[in-house]
Amino acid sequence: MVEQWQRKRDILIALDSEKFVSGETLASQLGISRMAISKHISALEEYGVDVFSVKGKGYKLANSLSLIDEIRLKNAFAQRCFYYDEIPSTNAFLLKHCEDLSSGDICVAEYQSAGRGRRGRTWVSPYGCHLYSSMYWNLSQGMAQATGLSLVVACSLVSALNDLSIQGLGVKWPNDIYLDNKKLAGVLVEMNGQADTECHLVIGIGINMSMSKTQGDKIEQPWSDLSQSDSVPNKTDLAIRLQAQLYADLTLFEEQGLSAFLTRWKQADIFDGKNVRLMIGETCIDGVCQGINKTGAILLKTDKGVESYVGGEISLRSAK
Ligand code: BTN
Repeated sequence: MVEQWQRKRDILIALDSEKFVSGETLASQLGISRMAISKHISALEEYGVDVFSVKGKGYKLANSLSLIDEIRLKNAFAQRCFYYDEIPSTNAFLLKHCEDLSSGDICVAEYQSAGRGRRGRTWVSPYGCHLYSSMYWNLSQGMAQATGLSLVVACSLVSALNDLSIQGLGVKWPNDIYLDNKKLAGVLVEMNGQADTECHLVIGIGINMSMSKTQGDKIEQPWSDLSQSDSVPNKTDLAIRLQAQLYADLTLFEEQGLSAFLTRWKQADIFDGKNVRLMIGETCIDGVCQGINKTGAILLKTDKGVESYVGGEISLRSAK
């Protein structure tokens, strides 16, 4: 199985080129038959990779993509890193093994067959195209300690991306990351544990890196990816930077709480001071966004004054 992925990785690297590469050239480069090449390419297409195939010319990737350098990633920090070519979900993996993990351990994959998004949605995770990463964190005092944590993760992502020279970033409450006002990355925090004793937390992050037109057309909201940025980071560098930033920020959050992040949040909040619509189930509330309070709840100024709102079902839209 691992060997099969190595072949596919070699093929992807060869196809990540401006020019078409013929099946014959690939076969002789990799020392396998043209039939085997064609089977690997069909399999890669089933894993969501967009490959242009032109008779007489050969193949090339519709969009450039980068794969993780496993050794470099694993050597970059003291915590454990689980890296897979394919997995159902990096969040599900860490939740399943949470009893054996330590804070800061991560799981990274090139493909998720059952990637999970917020509100029960699927996070479509084609092979190699984006970053799919999860981190385990142990909260010794239970779930209450996690209040506001998803906002910390959003601040952390912005800092990590800024450090890699990505400009034009913002956050949308509670934890979406935007690039040029379109969604770049999402965060899914899942928990396993008790309200007041030890709690296992898994923080899953999906960052769009190289979206093909076919994938992008299926997404129901405006999206962006890092390939549109002036400075496109290497995926291994991004995963390493993100792990380090998240580890430092979660440690700070444990020591000082959300108050240590309020300035960073305000600087990145793209809805602050804007007319917004908050949807809680079937209920719509229109008002002016006044940022967040000390617990991470969103503040809205309406006819009734300024009120705070919390909860996973809330969505935020620009008012018409
Ligand atoms: C969202 O809906 O905005 C959150 C998406 C979170 C996706 C990431 S990808 C890595 C991790 N594993 C999952 O199954 N989901 C998260």
